Amino acid sequence: MIEDRLNTELAEIASAGLTRRRRVLETPCGRMATVDGTNLLNFASNDYLGLAGNADIARVLADGALQWGAGSGASHLVSGHLVPHEVLEKEIADFTGFPRTLTFSTGYLANLAVTPTLAGRGDAVFADKLNHASLIDAMQLAKANGAEVQRYPHNDVAALEKMLAASTAAHKIIVTDAVFSMDGDLAPLPLIFALAERYDAWLVIDDAHGFGVLGPHGKGSLGHFNLPASPRILLMGTLGKAAGVGGAFVAGSETAIEYLLQKGRSYIFTTAQPPAIACALAKSLQLIRDGDALRANLMACIGQLREGLAGLPLKLLPSPTAIQPLIVGDNDAAVALSKALWERGMWVPAIRPPTVPKGTARLRISVSAAHTEADIAQLIAALKELA
Ligand SMILES: Cc1ncc(COP(=O)(O)O)c(C=O)c1O
Repeated sequence: MIEDRLNTELAEIASAGLTRRRRVLETPCGRMATVDGTNLLNFASNDYLGLAGNADIARVLADGALQWGAGSGASHLVSGHLVPHEVLEKEIADFTGFPRTLTFSTGYLANLAVTPTLAGRGDAVFADKLNHASLIDAMQLAKANGAEVQRYPHNDVAALEKMLAASTAAHKIIVTDAVFSMDGDLAPLPLIFALAERYDAWLVIDDAHGFGVLGPHGKGSLGHFNLPASPRILLMGTLGKAAGVGGAFVAGSETAIEYLLQKGRSYIFTTAQPPAIACALAKSLQLIRDGDALRANLMACIGQLREGLAGLPLKLLPSPTAIQPLIVGDNDAAVALSKALWERGMWVPAIRPPTVPKGTARLRISVSAAHTEADIAQLIAALKELA
């Protein structure tokens, strides 16, 4: 039977207790989520500023759809690049300080467009071992294009320097998450940028979890570290997390962006996102820019959570961001803890291998500006009781 192999593998996944299940939300993304009629405090989304359910953005989205229609109709380079896309690109360039940007339907597609397009035969890519899956897939494509790929231990700048120093590649490209999606820690970007300068390398930065959250006006990790919009940096930011809508951008020099536009296959060969999404994102960008009060509340919630969990027998990783990982270790224990919280009205997902290294199953607590002091206190009290 054609499906035998698939059924065997599915059974193996099930017997290892690793079957993934989707939960169907009966309410919009927000502070609370209703699942199977149960109301839960939501610590599971990446909606760090609470903008996914923002009524002003939703109104702009609806008005945008009435003005510009439901779809773009084609890829950007054929006939799908409309005024709202063009306006959004310019606004993101203005916001990030880079000369030019391209927008994408997802961050996954944006990451696939950057490294494999820049790196070919004779080039070398240096990637952090804990990079997001979309960057890992981008590495595989770069490899297929003939580039050499080396992975350095997480945030190990000395190991990265050794690799760069030993490399005879024509072009070198360093690729890193700015905020690591399962650990919440920051890449040492000033040190990595200094290496990029010293070894004349490109630096590709995935700021999916920093954009909107970190730095002045939520400009992201570069702003947080006061790094320049250098022509050797390509910055990817996602727009479905803190920005609350969907899509992504890549920002860079005029030349680098023009090159991606000409040659980036996952930019060229896909339909442009609906123009109304671009309208909504322009509104979201304005709320991010003016969102100091949201970020202040988010940071207060993060501080309260970290202080409250400090004495717990479980280890809270040293994360300064909205991603707060509580290491449980054992897969089943992590799932049991997540389930016990669920029964107490709190949704905190358990993350297990292969998404994280073996033996480090964890609760990934995602904090949002939409949370209140009482919400965080409720989570702390429950974890103190259960852990
Ligand atoms: C670090 C990182 N990069 C890229 C992505 C992909 O972005 P998108 O969800 O927009 O495809 C994600 C999450 O989804 C992420 O966590």
